[in-house]
Amino acid sequence: MRLGLIGDPVGHSRSPQMMHAAFAHMGLTASYEAIAVSKESLSQDIRQDPIVGWDGFNVTIPHKVGVMGLLDDLDESARTIGAVNTVVVRDRTRIGYNTDGVGYLRSLEQETGITVNGQSVVILGAGGAARAVATILAKEGIAQIQILNRTYSKAEELASHLGRWTTANACSLEDGKETICQASLLINTTSIGMYPNVDRLPIPEEWIFPHLLVSDLIYNPKETLFIQKARQKGCPVHYGLGMLVHQAAHALELWTGQKAPVEVMWSALEKALIVQNT
Ligand code: ATR
Repeated sequence: MRLGLIGDPVGHSRSPQMMHAAFAHMGLTASYEAIAVSKESLSQDIRQDPIVGWDGFNVTIPHKVGVMGLLDDLDESARTIGAVNTVVVRDRTRIGYNTDGVGYLRSLEQETGITVNGQSVVILGAGGAARAVATILAKEGIAQIQILNRTYSKAEELASHLGRWTTANACSLEDGKETICQASLLINTTSIGMYPNVDRLPIPEEWIFPHLLVSDLIYNPKETLFIQKARQKGCPVHYGLGMLVHQAAHALELWTGQKAPVEVMWSALEKALIVQNT
């Protein structure tokens, strides 16, 4: 199989290491190549070598939305999230999927032991990552979603998209503390606290309450300041690395029809990140 990744930039991506470790473990003869494709050349490049010969590929920033109009079909996961991160090629037909949402859900449930049913969540941020996470939680039957975002109109837009599956509202920054206090789950989907700005928190420390399960999508650093503060308060926590592993594992399952070796991929990713940071 010939597989790959397109994005810009892609040099920092650790997906090739994760995928190659998985191929070796599964006994698959396959390649996975990361190719930098600019926004301007996407529509051309996707029809040419080497991408045209691939049996499937991942799509990352900045093409997750732009690639949608260049494919033959979209799976429901891509349609409802409004972005594609995985393309499956079947009989020369390219179908766009989104595995970010499922990746997050599998990681959250497996690593924390919770089920989303009946939970009440506050999501920090209203960008692409927030949309993927919020959509899967809404579809899986979470009781309530509040979106807290710097730009209120974007929070309103996302809440209205989620309204067909669950109760969802935008929350103003003034009501943030009270709204978070009433929730059971708090998820950071913003980039605040990401390397190299590791000393920043997405919300004031006093808004982190000990009864909350606190989740952060950021995986570099592995433990953000937000997660550190939450742990100090006694909150159960959920790290960002799992989503990255599980979205890749699900993509691999779509391409091969076989179960992905999640633990093998996890340790390959951790090793690659240690090398990257030293
Ligand atoms: P992604 O696709 O990774 O989610 P994005 O679409 O750029 O990235 O969204 C990033 C989210 O983090 C946005 O909700 C953004 O808030 P705005 O909608 O107001 O832009 C939020 N965000 C990023 N940096 C922020 C900061 N310094 N302070 C507050 N919010 C921030």
